[in-house]
Amino acid sequence: MRVLGIETSCDETAAAVVEDGKTILSNVVATQIPFHAEFQGVVPEIASRKHTEWIYAVTKEALDKAGIEPSDLDGVAVTGEPGMLGSLLVGVNFAKAFAYTEDIPFIVVNHILGHLYASRLTEAAPNYPFLGLLVSGGHSIICRADDFDAVTVIGATIDDAVGEAFDKTAKYYGLGYPGGVVIDKLAQTGNPSAFRFPMPNLYKGEHRYDFSYSGLKTAVVNQLEQFRVQHEPASPADLAASFQKTAVDILLRSLFRAIEDTGLTTVVVGGGVAANSYLRARLAAHPGICAVFPPPSLCGDNAAMIAGLGYHYLGRGDRSPLTAAASSRTQGFKKKYP
Ligand code: KG4
Ligand code: ZN
Repeated sequence: MRVLGIETSCDETAAAVVEDGKTILSNVVATQIPFHAEFQGVVPEIASRKHTEWIYAVTKEALDKAGIEPSDLDGVAVTGEPGMLGSLLVGVNFAKAFAYTEDIPFIVVNHILGHLYASRLTEAAPNYPFLGLLVSGGHSIICRADDFDAVTVIGATIDDAVGEAFDKTAKYYGLGYPGGVVIDKLAQTGNPSAFRFPMPNLYKGEHRYDFSYSGLKTAVVNQLEQFRVQHEPASPADLAASFQKTAVDILLRSLFRAIEDTGLTTVVVGGGVAANSYLRARLAAHPGICAVFPPPSLCGDNAAMIAGLGYHYLGRGDRSPLTAAASSRTQGFKKKYP
């Protein structure tokens, strides 16, 4: 079964063809980063406009790279939630029109389940159940995955996403965009102990596996003010290394608790921050944990994960109506405190 995947939830216009939920025939991602860089963050209006301009050409390229015609497809899967509503609508409406025109089944899927599915498109596909650590510009989530559609969120950020903290820190210090990539590189020559930034005070009860990044963000801004008042140079490498260490410590403290409490030692990491070299090194150095990182092409937003996930719904006969809506928030699953 060949499924066309469409993904337009944020600032990547993506289309892919995946066979039987496993074999990637094509995976095209057109990034809009240069259009958002001057604003040092994603501008929703620009994003949806670029999706509208690019979606046809990106889909055509995905079909050409797979060496197939639209009539060779058995279904279309598209990200319907969560994300920026205007951007989601472009993909959802395009996918509906495509499925209607070709008279093939159509399914709307969840972006977060897509990120968790990405690891199943690799040789290292872990067996269920496992823990998921989803870390991007929009999400910071720890979840338990028992199947492709059976996912329980057990921890989440109570304010900002970790990727956003990287992006904002880079913005305050004028380091560039996207912040995660710049800080990761700068941090390699910096001293992670140069500055002590605070950890959130989330230990107990329903917040046991949660994250918070607003305190770290404020501390980083205050530090910048201190540099200014004391006429000191801002030492970007030390700042980047210290910020990155704290940002990753916050993730790992909650993750290690979840590992200990659930007994699940396989962790699938996904989302743009999964590319972070310090996070990878820290997890790799931890005995007893099997951390699965999809390759970079499947870590960030892509449509192969959407096509692969969609195959399983379509294969068991699930269909979305052509009236299906997009949603900026996840409708399907709620956070539960085990
Ligand atoms: O998953 P993604 O491509 O888009 C969504 O936000 O859904 O993730 C983008 C985020 C940005 O915040 C970016 O700064 C961050 O991932 N990022 C990184 C790295 N590469 C990208 N953060 C830390 N280290 C990196 N190497
Ligand atoms: Zn994403």
